[in-house]
Amino acid sequence: MNAVHDFARFKAEGRKISIVTAYDAWSARIVARSNVDAILVGDSAAMVMHGQPTTLAATVGLMAMHTRAVARAAAGKFVIADLPFLSFRKGIPAAMRAVGALVTSGAEAVKLEGVDGHEDVIAHIVGSGVPVMGHIGLTPQSVNRFGGFRVQGRNEGDAAKLVGQAHALQDLGCFSIVIECVPAELAARITSEVAVPTIGIGAGVATDGQVLVLHDLWGFDTGTTPRFVRRYFDGDRVLTNALNEYDTDVKETRFPGPEESYS
Ligand code: KIV
Repeated sequence: MNAVHDFARFKAEGRKISIVTAYDAWSARIVARSNVDAILVGDSAAMVMHGQPTTLAATVGLMAMHTRAVARAAAGKFVIADLPFLSFRKGIPAAMRAVGALVTSGAEAVKLEGVDGHEDVIAHIVGSGVPVMGHIGLTPQSVNRFGGFRVQGRNEGDAAKLVGQAHALQDLGCFSIVIECVPAELAARITSEVAVPTIGIGAGVATDGQVLVLHDLWGFDTGTTPRFVRRYFDGDRVLTNALNEYDTDVKETRFPGPEESYS
């Protein structure tokens, strides 16, 4: 997948879409060699790469820096970058400056959280020729309003609201919608009602695709591991073992050897 219309094609063909996050060139190079379909430069960079407790610390400058690094190394993969906290809530000119910073850094699409109150901004970005991915459910930039990282859409009223938001994002021209941390049945309902592909994270198996934070998938400790994460590698243990082997080799004068030394 290397173009925005591939999202619609995958849904039409009933093919699932796999997305992972990346924030730097070396990991983007590994993802680029894999079968994973697309890369999200998520504002989770603030937590995973910078040790912040939430995504609220991400800025346009930070996201542009991570996007540049990923885009340089992500040959052949579609790159989406997150518009960070409040960057699209200060009016259209400010939102377009943020979009411009991400696109000139190499993003082929932007993602933004929520819909209520910024419909005009979404329409303007789409109308400017920049593909927009929506994001509903547990939108982490609203963590303070939610009172924590909690499953959304559990009661009928909230579920109906999320269905309405998905339709609104589709009508505004979003090419895809991330649904985060909602009951699987609700995500399935939204997926069957909207024509654009839905990408789930903690939203069950019925969505048109899935997205995971790369470091969670690789088994690196990022502070907390939500229930929806599946670890495909024991990254923390493997890397710690490698460091300890190096440490032992240094201390027991087994590193460097003749082959790692100049004569
Ligand atoms: O910032 C992020 O990484 C995200 C997702 C995981 C959907 O928004």
